[in-house]
Amino acid sequence: MKSVSIALNRVWPTQLRTDRLLLRPVTREDGPLVDELLTDDRVRAHLGGPATQDRVVARQAAYPMTAGAFTVVRVADQRQIGLVTIGADHRCEGRAEISYQLLPAAWGEGLGREAVAAAVSWWTDAVPGGGPLVAVTQKANRSSCRMLEAIGMTVVDELDEHGRQCVYTPAGGQDDSDLRWLRLLAERRDAVERHRGAQARRRARPRPARTFPTTFRRSLPRNWPGCALPATAPTAGSAPAWPITRRTFTWAGHRTARGSPG
Ligand SMILES: CC(C)(COP(=O)(O)OP(=O)(O)OC[C@H]1O[C@@H](n2cnc3c(N)ncnc32)[C@H](O)[C@@H]1OP(=O)(O)O)[C@@H](O)C(=O)NCCC(=O)NCCS
Repeated sequence: MKSVSIALNRVWPTQLRTDRLLLRPVTREDGPLVDELLTDDRVRAHLGGPATQDRVVARQAAYPMTAGAFTVVRVADQRQIGLVTIGADHRCEGRAEISYQLLPAAWGEGLGREAVAAAVSWWTDAVPGGGPLVAVTQKANRSSCRMLEAIGMTVVDELDEHGRQCVYTPAGGQDDSDLRWLRLLAERRDAVERHRGAQARRRARPRPARTFPTTFRRSLPRNWPGCALPATAPTAGSAPAWPITRRTFTWAGHRTARGSPG
């Protein structure tokens, strides 16, 4: 997760230009776009349904602070038509995930393809240290699947997460893609070995012998009958080693209470 954020922060803010679109960092002025996207039934059909108002407000505040969150602007009329975000994939340390959503009025004109292809190429070609990238989309989300396939992404895995999901990765530039996966696997193996080494060192370290604290007796509550009893009954003339009041040292008192000679 960290490596993706580090890579993003190194290159952020960024703008990407395509024939018809500008992808630029999300700003506070994009609040209405975020609201529209997150509450539209059609946009959210495969994304868990419309978001609550609390979530909308949280996303409106978070997007402008998030490296990798682009607003998609149609150049012809300067309208904001959607969002494309690249961020850490919570399922796999070191892997990036792209997500995208356009307003329904902009669907079906190839704009999704154009925006997502630009962001994927940017990540794979121009972000040093970026990990492998995936897009995770519901199998039932036909437009999303077709769009990803149209830009040359291929399914590498499937998983169950709010329904059956396909995991796509860019197939183009296979050498670079393979290198990124290998680097990620090597990093994960190193991290696991470091963790195991630290555990073994912790286990091998000799434990300090458990000694009874010498101050234990002194730290007992003074007025706790019984606790104040010394280990051996004091003999006549032997002075107790710690301050004892008549109340705390009740050895003789008990005997007296039971009728013993006091
Ligand atoms: C996914 C999305 C960005 C695609 O945007 P778009 O601009 O319509 O995409 P494009 O026009 O570039 O291409 C879409 C492809 O899907 C096809 N398509 C569009 N609507 C479709 C539908 N309802 N069913 C099946 N295919 C559909 C198009 O014909 C095109 O395929 P083709 O190139 O083979 O003709 C857009 O549909 C969207 O915002 N959906 C809601 C958010 C979402 O589900 N995001 C996925 C996050 S994981």
